[in-house]
Amino acid sequence: MSIQTSLPKQHRLELIRVKPSEVFESETLPKTVERGLSHRPKYLLCRFIYDAIGSELFEQICDQPEYYLTRTEDAILRDHANAMVDGWDDPPTMIELGSGSSTKTRRLIEAALDRYGSLHYVPIDISGTILEDSARTLIDDYPAIRVTGIASDYDTALRVVAERIQGPKLLVFLGSSLGNFDDEDAVGLLQRIRSTLSADDRFLFGTDLVKDPTILEAAYDDSAGVTARFGKNILTRINRELGGNFDLDGFRYEARFSPEHHRVEMKLISDLEQIVTIPDLDLTVSFGAGESIHIENSHKYTPAILEQLAKQSRFLEEASWTDPDGFYRLQRWRT
Ligand code: AVJ
Repeated sequence: MSIQTSLPKQHRLELIRVKPSEVFESETLPKTVERGLSHRPKYLLCRFIYDAIGSELFEQICDQPEYYLTRTEDAILRDHANAMVDGWDDPPTMIELGSGSSTKTRRLIEAALDRYGSLHYVPIDISGTILEDSARTLIDDYPAIRVTGIASDYDTALRVVAERIQGPKLLVFLGSSLGNFDDEDAVGLLQRIRSTLSADDRFLFGTDLVKDPTILEAAYDDSAGVTARFGKNILTRINRELGGNFDLDGFRYEARFSPEHHRVEMKLISDLEQIVTIPDLDLTVSFGAGESIHIENSHKYTPAILEQLAKQSRFLEEASWTDPDGFYRLQRWRT
């Protein structure tokens, strides 16, 4: 039996809260609204869709029949988790960016526990409460796991990892979360990830692939209207938190695949000419009929695009896994 199994629960759970970086914190809802709604074309940062309600709606998106991403990634993990975590004599520390509830990660955690007998898991999430809840559940469920949660933004947390985590690491980034980043920003993030890793470390991440636009657009505009409500949540937030008077029925939600940018672009489109006031910002915004607010991008990849990203961030691909339909891909990269 490993040492970790004999440790009492309170010694298997550590939570580190680190103040997010200036860059991260300076981007507030008022700022993004001020900047984005006076820009042409209008835009808002998708990060602000995710308050408690937005996060709950996202969970519901993952259960929609059209949203194949979650279940496809899970099927690939189910079939290949053993290979994904293999390659070391002793267990690597498993670090996860944007861990959320860590449900998707359980396949990897269980495979690592099977293979190595014990595991140090380091989930990283901006929400300290979600992190704490999921960490507690994990130490209850797995006696051989030790959890060190880091509540901060990705870049700050990666610095904490570089300072505090010794030995081999398996860094995981699931759910095609990279897809929210424009290519240029994705390369920046990948480069910062690479700079925290050594020769014995690996980076395992999941990405959605380019496919028939009809399938892509349905995944981002489900027939139950959950994704539309998710998108409109940003207007609800502006109304509630900044005193805005957006009429949610005056905007329709649209998701379109742009082959040129290899991404699904999500927009809210004004059905009519209208004026919206946001008293807390002393802001009046006018909309023409058909004018849109760009609220989110979800990038879709091809092996060639991924190869390009690897090259630009100086990673080498070691292995990759896809589902039989070729809808989704996980890959393990090394430095
Ligand atoms: C959280 C970025 C992976 O792009 O599929 C889903 C976000 N937005 N439906 C995605 C999202 C609308 C999601 N990611």
